[in-house]
Amino acid sequence: MTTTDRDNALFFQTYKRLPLEVDHGEGCYLITKDGTRYLDMFSGLAVNALGYAHPAVTSAVEKQIRKYTHLSNLFLQEPQMALAEKLLKHSGYDKVFLCNSGTEANEGAIKLVRKWAKGQNRRGIFGMTNGFSGRTMGALSLMDKEKYRDGYGPFLDEIGVIEFNDPADLDRKIKPDTAAVFFEAIQGEGGIVPVSPEFAAVLAALRKKYGFLLVADEIQSGIGRTGTMFGFEHFGLTPDLVTFAKPVGGGLPLGGILGTTALADVWAPGMHGTTFGGNPVACAAGNAVLEIVLDPGFLESVRMNAAYLFERLDALKHAYPVIREVRGYGYMIGIDMTTESAPIVEKILQKGVLVNATAHTVVRVLPPLVAGREEIDTFLAVFEQCIQ
Ligand SMILES: Cc1ncc(COP(=O)(O)O)c(C=O)c1O
Repeated sequence: MTTTDRDNALFFQTYKRLPLEVDHGEGCYLITKDGTRYLDMFSGLAVNALGYAHPAVTSAVEKQIRKYTHLSNLFLQEPQMALAEKLLKHSGYDKVFLCNSGTEANEGAIKLVRKWAKGQNRRGIFGMTNGFSGRTMGALSLMDKEKYRDGYGPFLDEIGVIEFNDPADLDRKIKPDTAAVFFEAIQGEGGIVPVSPEFAAVLAALRKKYGFLLVADEIQSGIGRTGTMFGFEHFGLTPDLVTFAKPVGGGLPLGGILGTTALADVWAPGMHGTTFGGNPVACAAGNAVLEIVLDPGFLESVRMNAAYLFERLDALKHAYPVIREVRGYGYMIGIDMTTESAPIVEKILQKGVLVNATAHTVVRVLPPLVAGREEIDTFLAVFEQCIQ
């Protein structure tokens, strides 16, 4: 029986798996059972910011495991507090709620918005077309793509979508009593599509006029991925709530919601919660991640390496008409091709480099934030061979 046969026999088939049997990871590389090394340029879908087996994460996890792996949220817990202090200090937000995943963070944000809106006599929450918020029912309600929603309705009431990057649609749909607008500053699953300056400006102006809550989904673009703490910083937006997850737990399940002082009293004890959210081992790993990633020198090196990568990709774009556009910020990059991206990604894999295909024609590159010139050059050489 092959490993694929075993997978087929065991699981609900919700994933299209890569044909690799990984033994372990080392830095930016994955090593399979037969000893082959793969350069991982999508870092577990934007999770492994420090690559694999980073000594700071490993040591923090080991230390915490020996103390306690779980207490429940009935207890005050030092790893949670230390993590919260770092998040608030570096983000400028005032309160945080910790959970386990991105979709849970968005569910929590929807609940917080609804609770706030009831007190204000507001209704109506919007997501964006082409967005991705997660797989739970609230998150799906913020989305429009049939690929994710088909067969799961009915969805939440009083939730709709605004055409992403269409200021006229914003103007049409936002009402004086709108409760909130959720958005990704750089749509990830949607193909690395940044918010346009015009759309961001109209969104900010309408929010100033009507006072709805602006909620940034920074689950993929946050915590250093774009060379800044959050992706929305590139567009001059100042959201009321921010959801985050993916890289923050160093590969362990961790996510959360950041909010402003104005929203601090919306929730009281018992109104929201989770058994595992803010797990101490995940928070210990998160503290190690944030200590490294949020160091200004570290993010400066991400920005410099990313500038080099974009420059080289732009040169390839001029040389190869099969590249339609290169988009993104920092280490969140979409190479939009004139053909389907999946076969190109497959060829790149055959040559020992892992990238991801999304939005039909986009090669998505999400390197570990620790990837430097050497890894970039290896990726570029392989990518060029594969599109020649
Ligand atoms: C922007 C965005 N929001 C939400 C999610 C959902 O996160 P999770 O898979 O941790 O539930 C994702 C996952 O890819 C994402 O990219």
